[in-house]
Amino acid sequence: MQVFHTTDRLTLRRFTVADEDNLFELNSDPEVMRYLYGGKPTHREAVRTRIIPTFLGYYERFEGLGFWAAEETATGQFLGWFHFRPPLPDADSPPGWDEDGVAELGYRLRRSAWGKGYATEGSRALIAKGFTEFGVQRVVAETVADNWGSRRVLEKSGLIQVATLAGTAPDPAGGTENSAVIYELSRSGWEVLAR
Ligand SMILES: CC(C)(COP(=O)(O)OP(=O)(O)OC[C@H]1O[C@@H](n2cnc3c(N)ncnc32)[C@H](O)[C@@H]1OP(=O)(O)O)[C@@H](O)C(=O)NCCC(=O)NCCS
Repeated sequence: MQVFHTTDRLTLRRFTVADEDNLFELNSDPEVMRYLYGGKPTHREAVRTRIIPTFLGYYERFEGLGFWAAEETATGQFLGWFHFRPPLPDADSPPGWDEDGVAELGYRLRRSAWGKGYATEGSRALIAKGFTEFGVQRVVAETVADNWGSRRVLEKSGLIQVATLAGTAPDPAGGTENSAVIYELSRSGWEVLAR
């Protein structure tokens, strides 16, 4: 196992091809996928041929940026993942997301792990590591406006909402609105918080 980082309760490690079942099961829970891809599960074939190769590709291309499997250290149980990676800008992305030194934060945890502070714990650790070890200058994140749990994690991790992109959330799952919200934290802002 290639451990990337440990926190009080989490072990963040590299993914391997052996994570196919973990990822397939994670993406098979409609509640986990509620704000992602319209709640649809992911075909096992796509996990094997697209998702895992994408995750592994980050380890080749970037140092300290990518997708990290999260395990509960006490039990070794797979909880889900965090990403902390160069953003993938598209037509709707805010300006500046393609700049050097920008890292996009994201997370997806199995339902049994929710509500224990794990997403916040992992996010804070990755943010601190990015700013102190990997030259990150700005952390950005995007979520569906209706995804209040995710928004709360971003806020507890120090990010501040900087924009709302009306009607642009990818694959809305029938929520009351399909706006996306954009959050950011600059290195200087984080340094103030970390004092
Ligand atoms: C979003 C997600 C990662 C949160 O994980 P988590 O480990 O439960 O998060 P934490 O326990 O660190 O914090 C969650 C916070 O959101 C709050 N919260 C959760 N659901 C909420 C809701 N519907 N409305 C308001 N607040 C909510 C919790 O009370 C908690 O805040 P608190 O500590 O102030 O009480 C998890 O629910 C998940 O994986 N969801 C599915 C995938 C997903 O939507 N990922 C984000 C895509 S952008």
